[in-house]
Amino acid sequence: MPTLIFATNNQNKVNEIQSLVGSDFKIIPLKEAGIDIDIPEPHDTLQENANEKAVTIFNITNQNCFSEDTGLEIDALNGEPGVKSARYAGEGRDFQANIDKVLLHLDGIENRSAQFRTVICLLWKDEVNGLQTHYFEGTCKGHIASEMHGEKGFGYDPIFIPEGASKSFAQMSMDEKNTYSHRQKAVTQLFEFLRLK
Ligand code: IMP
Repeated sequence: MPTLIFATNNQNKVNEIQSLVGSDFKIIPLKEAGIDIDIPEPHDTLQENANEKAVTIFNITNQNCFSEDTGLEIDALNGEPGVKSARYAGEGRDFQANIDKVLLHLDGIENRSAQFRTVICLLWKDEVNGLQTHYFEGTCKGHIASEMHGEKGFGYDPIFIPEGASKSFAQMSMDEKNTYSHRQKAVTQLFEFLRLK
């Protein structure tokens, strides 16, 4: 089975993506690749951060790899927390503190529409074309609930209700979340591309 390094330390993302890809590819997270670093996300766009993560890992391993960066973009907050989603309430990257901050900022605001956006960066090297950089993007529109619902998933899942659903991502099984999710849409494009390679 072909393997591909995924430049992440987030096991939730690994599980979601591996369940989508099935047995076509084996996804290797950083820990399994023997890499113990916290890759910085210093940029103002998801694309630049995704690129930084993939380039960092490619430079260490010299192996084909991909990374992803995801942001929650809330209309009434002018697209915030967006690229700052992980550290919205501070450097601790605390899921609960981030959720509390979103709910506080949206208190009394009627427009609660939002979207998750994922950008994947693939670094792919082959003998024909050398090293190439490819991007894939997926979005999931929805709205922010007035309080937390459910205990599954991670991050902002308990307050995000995708369009067409009546429950939050945190109330869904991983398979159900994958039918709606931003990550699934970006990952599907990535693996369609790889299958044609
Ligand atoms: P990053 O892509 O790891 O930088 O994630 C940015 C922030 O968004 C982190 O706080 C994540 O927990 C959160 N996040 C990323 N993807 C999801 C998701 O699918 N559901 C809920 N929160 C997410």
